Amino acid sequence: MTTRDRWRVIKTVGLMFLLAVVMLTVFQRGSGRMNQFQIERHPPMEAPAERATLNKAFYISPESFWKEDHKRPMATTEEPLVTLARRPKSWDITTSNCSANLSISSVRWFTGLEETFQQFLIYRHCRFFPMTINHPEKCVGDVHLLMVIKSVITQHDRREVIRQTWGKELVMNGKRIKTIFLLGKSTNKKEKANHQKLLEYEDYIYGDILQWDFMDSFFNLTLKETHFLKWFYTYCGTVPYIFKGDDDVFVSVENILEYLESSKNIKHLFTGDVLFKAKPIRKKENKYYIPQALYNKTYYPPYAGGGGFLMDGPLARKLYKVSETLDLFPIDDVFLGMCLEVLQVTPIKHNAFKTFGLMKDKNSKLNKEPCFFKSMIVVHKLLPQELKDMWRLVHTDLICAQKMELL
Ligand SMILES: *[C@@H]1O[C@H](CO)[C@@H](O)[C@H](O)[C@H]1NC(C)=O
Ligand SMILES: *[C@@H]1O[C@H](CO)[C@@H](O)[C@H](O)[C@H]1NC(C)=O
Ligand SMILES: *[C@@H]1O[C@H](CO)[C@@H](O)[C@H](O)[C@H]1NC(C)=O
Ligand SMILES: *[C@@H]1O[C@H](CO)[C@@H](O)[C@H](O)[C@H]1NC(C)=O
Repeated sequence: MTTRDRWRVIKTVGLMFLLAVVMLTVFQRGSGRMNQFQIERHPPMEAPAERATLNKAFYISPESFWKEDHKRPMATTEEPLVTLARRPKSWDITTSNCSANLSISSVRWFTGLEETFQQFLIYRHCRFFPMTINHPEKCVGDVHLLMVIKSVITQHDRREVIRQTWGKELVMNGKRIKTIFLLGKSTNKKEKANHQKLLEYEDYIYGDILQWDFMDSFFNLTLKETHFLKWFYTYCGTVPYIFKGDDDVFVSVENILEYLESSKNIKHLFTGDVLFKAKPIRKKENKYYIPQALYNKTYYPPYAGGGGFLMDGPLARKLYKVSETLDLFPIDDVFLGMCLEVLQVTPIKHNAFKTFGLMKDKNSKLNKEPCFFKSMIVVHKLLPQELKDMWRLVHTDLICAQKMELL
């Protein structure tokens, strides 16, 4: 064995050891006691009026539960034509060809913008990047539902818990469910190489990582959206349904399947925690601040909170085509709303999706009530251990009188 080979072996063993330690800490952490759930997240808009009435809780019968929100405008007959021909057989982007567009910096309003927005605008034209980890086989076979989760390299513990809970690949009621995580590159310059090695090892074990060669930053989340849509378009021609969400949410797969079963006749299914008439935030301190120069209308189009929503496969393929025709917008879920608007599809608001926060009162008992979680489709926002504990509570001999509904 040459010194170089020996060095390689030592490195590999070291890496595996490191990974084992990481996993052990994840699994051993905490001993079953539930922390206070802190369920709140500021929606990327100023609070719409309808959110003011979030405090009453009441019960409705299970029969009517899923039908509750099905009212939606009828699809218009003359929808825009989207051509779906010429589907590539594999990921066809092999080089990163992304150079800064410096001519944009001479535009009058550019200099007044915050640095993050300048960065965004200079690289806005860079639409696609190569894949560093791919799973072209993911959708082969009779996949009914693809669970798609946005994550970043360092959130390894969240992926681990999701794999043990709602992201487990299985066949439920005869329906095959598959899971993938969407990632970009590490933003940590010093640890970049190590992070990448760990991620590749994780994927070697689980085979559920998709990774693209762009920086995993907040403003690149829209790239993650468009890259996923293109990937789905390329490799998942027959998958009927997608759940797409964050890596820190609670999800009930049983309820998703039940909902999809009851929604079979809906054309262009896109359901979630939908905001109508959300206003762009103009306060600079806010994470979701958008300057007038980037978006000057009073309201965003209707869009579903990115924490978790459902869409059907044919619609996702149309969304991909439309996404290519629009300028990228830094907020990913709003960007999808813009695509839906072009397609003249109104997203469906359903009360079982709680992606913007639950009870105003953090100490409300509902925030820890398993029967409440059992009746939901998505609830944000849980720490890995909280998710694990809640999952266990919901899936043991929990007896709930009825499906419970908030609002
Ligand atoms: C990169 O993009 C520029 C313009 O966007 C183009 O002129 C050039 O040929 C591209 N290079 C490669 C290697 O694709
Ligand atoms: C660069 O920015 C200018 C000014 O906004 C724009 O006209 C041009 O199309 C941009 N170039 C690319 C490659 O996007
Ligand atoms: C998005 O990723 C690209 C490629 O890594 C990078 O050049 C660009 O700066 C990122 N954009 C933002 C806004 O972080
Ligand atoms: C809003 O933005 C659009 C496109 O960026 C532009 O054509 C329009 O003139 C702007 N309107 C106002 C009132 O600034």
